[in-house]
Amino acid sequence: MISALLFLLFTPWILCEDEENVTFPQDEFKCSLPDVTSLDTNLDVTRFRSDFSKISEVKFPGLIGPLNERLICKIKCIDGNWVGPLCSSTPDGRFQPILRECLYRNDHPLLAISFRNSSINKATHFPHGSVLVSRCKHFGLYKMKGENILRCENGEWTPKLPECVPTTVVTNFTGDAPPTIQYTIVSGSAVVEHSGELYVYPDSTVRLDCVTSRALGDPDWSWTQALGQHSSAWSTEEGEKETHYRLTLNKMSVRHSDQYTCTSHAGHTNTVLIKVVNVVCPPISVSSTRIRQFTQGTRLGHSAHFSCQPGYHLNGSAILTCMGNGQWSSLPPTCVETFCPILKSLGPHLSVVEYNSSFGGRAMFQCAWGYRLVGAPGLECEIDGTWSGEVPLCSPIYCPDPLVPENGRLLTQSSIKHGMYPVGDLMIYACEEGYEIVGESSIVCTENGFWSHPPPFCLPPSEIRKADTIFVENTTLIHIEE
Ligand SMILES: *[C@@H]1O[C@H](CO)[C@@H](O)[C@H](O)[C@H]1NC(C)=O
Ligand SMILES: *[C@@H]1O[C@H](CO)[C@@H](O)[C@H](O)[C@H]1NC(C)=O
Ligand SMILES: *[C@@H]1O[C@H](CO)[C@@H](O)[C@H](O)[C@H]1NC(C)=O
Ligand SMILES: *[C@@H]1O[C@H](CO)[C@@H](O)[C@H](O)[C@H]1NC(C)=O
Ligand SMILES: *[C@@H]1O[C@H](CO)[C@@H](O)[C@H](O)[C@H]1NC(C)=O
Repeated sequence: MISALLFLLFTPWILCEDEENVTFPQDEFKCSLPDVTSLDTNLDVTRFRSDFSKISEVKFPGLIGPLNERLICKIKCIDGNWVGPLCSSTPDGRFQPILRECLYRNDHPLLAISFRNSSINKATHFPHGSVLVSRCKHFGLYKMKGENILRCENGEWTPKLPECVPTTVVTNFTGDAPPTIQYTIVSGSAVVEHSGELYVYPDSTVRLDCVTSRALGDPDWSWTQALGQHSSAWSTEEGEKETHYRLTLNKMSVRHSDQYTCTSHAGHTNTVLIKVVNVVCPPISVSSTRIRQFTQGTRLGHSAHFSCQPGYHLNGSAILTCMGNGQWSSLPPTCVETFCPILKSLGPHLSVVEYNSSFGGRAMFQCAWGYRLVGAPGLECEIDGTWSGEVPLCSPIYCPDPLVPENGRLLTQSSIKHGMYPVGDLMIYACEEGYEIVGESSIVCTENGFWSHPPPFCLPPSEIRKADTIFVENTTLIHIEE
């Protein structure tokens, strides 16, 4: 059981190659198929053989760990269970167990986890020995209970992940919460590092507010080094007088690097770490003419803001901050052209006659013959990469019920259509016995939804002879040939 499980846990770091080496023993070993196919499709063991009951050992080349180290590995069948893998860097070297990796599940919304100064924002596997740094998100708003350095020890994070305890501002001063600590940069610059420490550029002035209820008594600010002489007092600003016990750190220098603790009257504490470092980041060079950059400066805590010219959008972070390691928080972004999405759900009978999905481009539509466009005949690709409206529809064009003249009838079967005569429909008229048709004897439904001609008349021959011309619908003059 354990063997198969171990092997399973390793699969993300092991990529089996096609070749493999199996040892045939004298006796039956009765191990079943190593259960590896389910996790990694590259690792289809049945490709090699389906019966493992007579196999004592399977060797395979493995690519192990994040660096894809090429090792020779083996699992052994012992008493019906696969044990391993054991790996070695040379075929005749010593085979040793590889240590299990750890999974960071990212299911602690209040914890910020970083690995080598980069934030980890999704579930990630880490090899044995990896070190994560954890802190509570929202500087000073939660108090961390537990260790902030975690090490992957053969599949387990050691020690356990810390907890983030809500402070007064989060609990609205209810219950027995530790005080919130808030910081304000009065002058200069500073940044909260991935480690949770506040890094401050020399000569900056920073205010720390211990947020606790004044009615319960005065809290106390403390720090470890005897050197610091700082003043603390209740804030005099409106809205803060009853809650913000303020420590002002003027023109900070390296000797002010320390941990600052506020102890509430009830004895609850919260601590922040401050480091004063003289760090400058290299200037940011972006070559593209499409990118616009506003850089506050290159000192620790300074930021650079980016935007793109119309028709382009940022790929990457819009704001970079100069971090304590002398690097910007991420690579500068690039501007990539904005395209509107591919037009989907084009209804039947609709066709696109012009298409340009760049910003400012147009999509023009047309309906098939006999159909009318409902909606905008064209859309424009707007600056935010969306089309200016909905794709239009095509609805069939119909002519109304044709009028039937007195003493006349339609030869075409029409009773079922009820005003739904499509474009191209042909109607043929006939007159009753003793009447003659005057006008067009056939009409066609045209694309504008009207019949090609008005209905004819059915007149007795005597009347036709009386008049050479008759007026139809006031405007249409029909000349009658005798
Ligand atoms: C399999 O083992 C044999 C003998 O130990 C060796 O010569 C051969 O190279 C191995 N094949 C692979 C693919 O490792
Ligand atoms: C604190 O107060 C705010 C607004 O008054 C409220 O939205 C929030 O739910 C309260 N939080 C707690 C923990 O009671
Ligand atoms: C955005 O940036 C990433 C990483 O820098 C790159 O891999 C990706 O191709 C870029 N996307 C576009 C659309 O240029
Ligand atoms: C992380 O950043 C700190 C300063 O912010 C630096 O001292 C440390 O060397 C960095 N660690 C790595 C692994 O880059
Ligand atoms: C698409 O439209 C844009 C904006 O009007 C224009 O600059 C571009 O040249 C057009 N592309 C093509 C292929 O016509």
